Amino acid sequence: MAQTRSILITGGAGFIGSHVVRRFVTKYPQYRIVNLDALTYAGNLENLRDIEASANYTFVKGDIRDVGLLGKLFTVHAIDGVIHLAAESHVDRSITDPMAFVSTNVIGTVTLLNAARDAWKGVSTGKRFYHVSTDEVYGSLQDDGFFTERTPYAPQSPYSASKAASDHFVRAYGNTYKLPFVLTNCSNNYGSHHFPEKLIPLMINNIRTNKPLPVYGKGENVRDWLWVEDHAAAIDTVFHNGVDGETYNIGGHNEWRNIDLVKLLCAIMDRKLDRPIGESAELITYVTDRAGHDLRYAIDAGKIERELGWRPSITFEEGLERTVDWYLANTAWLDHVTSGTYRHYYEEQYSKR
Ligand code: NAD
Ligand code: TYD
Repeated sequence: MAQTRSILITGGAGFIGSHVVRRFVTKYPQYRIVNLDALTYAGNLENLRDIEASANYTFVKGDIRDVGLLGKLFTVHAIDGVIHLAAESHVDRSITDPMAFVSTNVIGTVTLLNAARDAWKGVSTGKRFYHVSTDEVYGSLQDDGFFTERTPYAPQSPYSASKAASDHFVRAYGNTYKLPFVLTNCSNNYGSHHFPEKLIPLMINNIRTNKPLPVYGKGENVRDWLWVEDHAAAIDTVFHNGVDGETYNIGGHNEWRNIDLVKLLCAIMDRKLDRPIGESAELITYVTDRAGHDLRYAIDAGKIERELGWRPSITFEEGLERTVDWYLANTAWLDHVTSGTYRHYYEEQYSKR
């Protein structure tokens, strides 16, 4: 099949990245998809087992901070689009090791911007640099209001500060070097292949294995949850139809207090595991709050809905059912991730190639 585009997806072995890679590889056989991922603790090639043999897919183990590698990839694959997801993504880790976040999220993003700028040499037609970011750059809301694309940046954790810095660099390269970019800020995602250090997969795994369910503080913090495949669909829409230089907020119109969400998960798991009603909720344990814990995130996704016609395809109830079903059907994935054996997959699969 004649190849019409060549897209570099960074962080494609992670949670959201693997859904984006799968969507693009299967939906667009006419595109070459190059997945560049350093396979940090969060990168798991088992996430892509089902598509790894596809003719239009190439995996490259490497770092977005590697200038030489990036130059080579842009040339060898004639990259004309970038979808940049590679990042350190966990707020709790950013509190213990902020420099790792500066290094990958800020320096890594600028290194990638330089590579695109150098490869595209001022030509913008047919080129696109898509930066995937988070609603956390806007800071924390109180009880009312929503983040819009015009909300001033006010990041409050080392993670969100590093993502905010990377967003500023992307816009600065658009302004200064006329690099054609689009940028999206999305709310919390949930779904399959989510590393069980984040709230929803951690709770599912702990309920399954009868471990305490650590709820930070009083559990009153609010997050706006979006099914990861709807985020991947939004990325597809913005990559193809978004306007150069524009930002789009992506969200699920779906706010939950952490404690209510954990109780809902407990109820679903009681039903799925044939436990007496209320048994899983007995595992709930209130623990010391996260330092500087943002109270509430909530996205106004009106712009992407009006201008590009994207909206979430399923309800939270349906998404959560599918998500729980996936983890219960893929306990080997969870066991590999929690025991660390997933890290051998690369050697097993790729050392022979
Ligand atoms: P993740 O932590 O699951 O995956 C990150 C991936 O990036 C991993 O595969 C990792 O190996 C790779 N990576 C890390 N450092 C790298 C480096 N230096 N070079 C190359 N690869 C590297 O993250 P995620 O939850 O899938 O998030 C993906 C992107 O989406 C991030 O940019 C994040 O800020 C953004 N985002 C996430 C959410 C969410 O709810 N998870 C919401 C909005 C935006
Ligand atoms: P998380 O999944 O880490 O995403 P983020 O901090 O980027 O929103 O956390 C979601 C919410 O759940 C956040 O308010 C922190 C809280 N939380 C807990 O209460 N217990 C946990 O074990 C974790 C991981 C998170």
